[in-house]
Amino acid sequence: MSKNGIVKLIRPDLVNITGYTASKSPEEVAATARFPINGIIKLDANENPYGCSPKVLEALSKYDSFNIYPDAGQRELRKLLEGYAGVGAEHIVASSGSDQMIGLIMQLFVSPGDEVINFPPTFDIFRFAVTLCNGKVVDVPRDENYDVDIAAAKKAITKKTKLIVLANPNNPTGNPTPQPDILELLDTGVPVLADEAYVEFCGETVTPLVKEYKNLMVLRTFSKWAGLASFRIGYGIFPPEIADYLMNIKMPYSVSAASTIAVRESLKDRDFLMDRVKKIVAERDRLYEELKKIEWLKPFPSKANFIFCHVLNGTARQIYEGLMDRSIIIRYADNHVMKDFIRIGAGKPEHTDIVIKAIREIEAERA
Ligand SMILES: Cc1ncc(COP(=O)(O)O)c(C=O)c1O
Repeated sequence: MSKNGIVKLIRPDLVNITGYTASKSPEEVAATARFPINGIIKLDANENPYGCSPKVLEALSKYDSFNIYPDAGQRELRKLLEGYAGVGAEHIVASSGSDQMIGLIMQLFVSPGDEVINFPPTFDIFRFAVTLCNGKVVDVPRDENYDVDIAAAKKAITKKTKLIVLANPNNPTGNPTPQPDILELLDTGVPVLADEAYVEFCGETVTPLVKEYKNLMVLRTFSKWAGLASFRIGYGIFPPEIADYLMNIKMPYSVSAASTIAVRESLKDRDFLMDRVKKIVAERDRLYEELKKIEWLKPFPSKANFIFCHVLNGTARQIYEGLMDRSIIIRYADNHVMKDFIRIGAGKPEHTDIVIKAIREIEAERA
C-alpha cells in the first residue's frame, strides 16, 4: 500500500498531529553536547536532583520474577497508596506516570466534540490528551498573576463541557489555586481534575474532598518527590465509581511489578525522601530570592519545585542558549501563550550557585 493509502486510513483529526514537545532526554542532549554528559546540570523537567531512595535500587536487584505479569488489579499497590494518600484503596488507580492517567481520564469522559476547560499557561499534556480524543480545549487564560479566573471559568461551561483541568500548584507558574476557588469549580457539578504532581513540595491537597464530591479527581506522581521520573509511576484518587471505570478501561498490565517495588520501598523510606523534599523547597526559595536580585528578571513565588520567571530585557532564548553553553539545561518559551519566560528547576545548593553565576556572566556578555 502506498504511503498516501495509509494516511487515508488514519483518523482525519490526527493526520496532522505534531506530537508533544517533551523535555530533552540525557541521550538527546548527549548527541549534540559540547560537554561531557555527566557534567550536565539538568533543571528543565522538574526532576529530583537527589535521585530515588537507595532502598528501591536494593530491592529491585533482589527481585527475580520479572518473567511474570504484574497484578492487573494493582492490589498491593493500591493498598500501599491507601496508607500514603489517606483514602481507601477503592478510591485509587495507579498508572504508568500520571500523564498516562490524564490520557485515561480523557478517554473516559471526552467524546469527539466534547469540551474541556483549561487554564493556560499550564501543563500542556492536558491539551495533548484532549486532542487525542478529538475533544475541544476551551482555554480560560489565567490573570496577570497567573491565578485562575473562576468567574470566567464558570461562564465558559456549556452543555458540551465534560471536564475542568487544573494543575495545582500550576506548572509552569508554580502558584497554587486556593481551596475556596476549587470548591466553586466543584459546585458547578462539572468533573474537576486537580493535578497535584507537586503536592509534596506544597503541602496543600484537596484529597479529603474526594469522599464528599462525586465530581472530584486528584492526580499524584512519584516522579518528583520520590525521584522516580524514569520509573513512570503515578496514581489518581477518585470517587469509587470513577475508579471502577478507570480500572475497567486501563490496559491490564500498564504498571510494572518494578513500580510496585519502587512504591513500597519509597514509602518505607518516606522520612528520608521528605528530608530531601525539604532541601529542594529551601533551594527553591533561595533560587527565587537570588533571581529577584537580577533586575531584568521577574521571578514568581512558587509552591512547586521550580521557579518561573519573565525575562524583561533580552529574550528567553538568549538565556536558554547562554546557560546551555555552560552545560545547564532549563526550559524556556516564547510563543503566543507565553512571551519570554524561563522555568528553572530547584536543584542542589551548588546548582543554584552555578546558575546564578552563569546568569550574571550572560548579563556581562550582553553589556
Ligand atoms: C502538573 C503536572 N502533572 C503531571 C506531570 C507528569 O508527571 P508524571 O511523570 O507522573 O507523568 C507533570 C510533570 O512535569 C506535571 O508538571
